Amino acid sequence: MENFIYHTPTKLIFGKDSVSKLPDALRPLGKRILLTYGGGSIKKIGLYDEVKHLLADFEIFELSGIEPNPKYTTSVLEGVRICKENRIDAVLAVGGGSVLDCSKAICAGALYDGEPWDLITYKVKAKKALPLVDILTLAATGSEYDCGCVISRTETNDKVGYIDELLFPVVSILDPRYTFSVSKKQTAAGAADAINHIMEQYFCAEHTDLADGMCEAAVKSLIKNAKIALKEPENYDARAEFMADCSLACNDILSIGNSYSGWPCHAIEHALSAYYDITHGEGLAIITPRWMKHILSEKTMERFISFGTHIFGIDPSLPEQEIAELTIARTYETFESFGIPMHLREVGIDESRLGEMAHHIAVNEGLDKAWAPLSEEDILDILKASL
Ligand code: NZQ
Ligand code: ZN
Repeated sequence: MENFIYHTPTKLIFGKDSVSKLPDALRPLGKRILLTYGGGSIKKIGLYDEVKHLLADFEIFELSGIEPNPKYTTSVLEGVRICKENRIDAVLAVGGGSVLDCSKAICAGALYDGEPWDLITYKVKAKKALPLVDILTLAATGSEYDCGCVISRTETNDKVGYIDELLFPVVSILDPRYTFSVSKKQTAAGAADAINHIMEQYFCAEHTDLADGMCEAAVKSLIKNAKIALKEPENYDARAEFMADCSLACNDILSIGNSYSGWPCHAIEHALSAYYDITHGEGLAIITPRWMKHILSEKTMERFISFGTHIFGIDPSLPEQEIAELTIARTYETFESFGIPMHLREVGIDESRLGEMAHHIAVNEGLDKAWAPLSEEDILDILKASL
């Protein structure tokens, strides 16, 4: 078992009407609030009006139009500018992972005198950040309960993960009813994202029974509740359990005592989103089974057997190779059953830039040191197999 430090200072306020706690959450942080949101879904579901009503006593500034795969030049820099010019006390992010991620980068950049990209790329360590409160409207990334954010820079095809303990939200408000309006496409992508977060922690060298049990329970819950939510988008219990699963899937609690895998599917997917601006969870669903097939070996076999027998109920008395192959097939079928396009071509990616992307990933992501190491050639093979 590996040593670990586990620390999550974020307070989760979960359930129906949890938004009523918003003024109390913000009051200790100050009066001047930057409200950040995306392309308008929060207005359609009435949440924007509700927030404005609840915060009538606060001074509200706004940054709208934050894009999926949030962009540095348009959104992060604009948010930092608003914070600096208006002496903002705290940021309130209302939306999905992209709005939360962008807001985290804004919180760090707002209290830094130089170019915020230096913080995001770890050239400089932030000394402080503005406090962040969020209201989550899309269950997927776990950004509401972790200290990471992922920021894209279109001009250089970069999509960079920036992790710093200063970026934990102070409070995250989770009312599953705000996710009723999430489309089938985004619900499916969210499920694939959270399932892959757990797989990235499960497929590793050192692992504990405790972590295995938590991961398996969470994946089973995600599959079950995603299927229900896709059929019945307003099923409260399904949306609620799905939301709780997603929050826990990315904050390290499920892999307590495990060694680090290198998060290979994320490393590969981030390049796909950076080059083609595709939906993160869809890219992961496409890559994951091809990555599994590529890394299956005597060394990795045990993880496949454990995952397949516990998650999909595959008969443990079958030959090992057969169990592993069935595990890969069941994983593929699960994502397919959510309605996710399972080929890169279906999301607009052809062979023309696969070599360039494989090189970018190999140079920037350190996958040669992953649990199942991947060279540039391996990455290219996985991309080709995903076409
Ligand atoms: O922009 P609006 O109008 O709000 O619409 C959004 C967006 O078009 C819509 N949406 C959100 N809530 C909705 C809704 N539509 C209807 N009803 C609602 N209640 O959904 C679309 C996608 O939103 P987005 O925030 O982009 O999705 P998601 O939450 O999946 O976030 C994806 C981003 O998070 C990053 C991804 O790489 C990607 O950039 N990740 C962040 C992580 C983290 N911070 O820990 C980890 C993840 O692995 C991931 O990399
Ligand atoms: Zn993810």
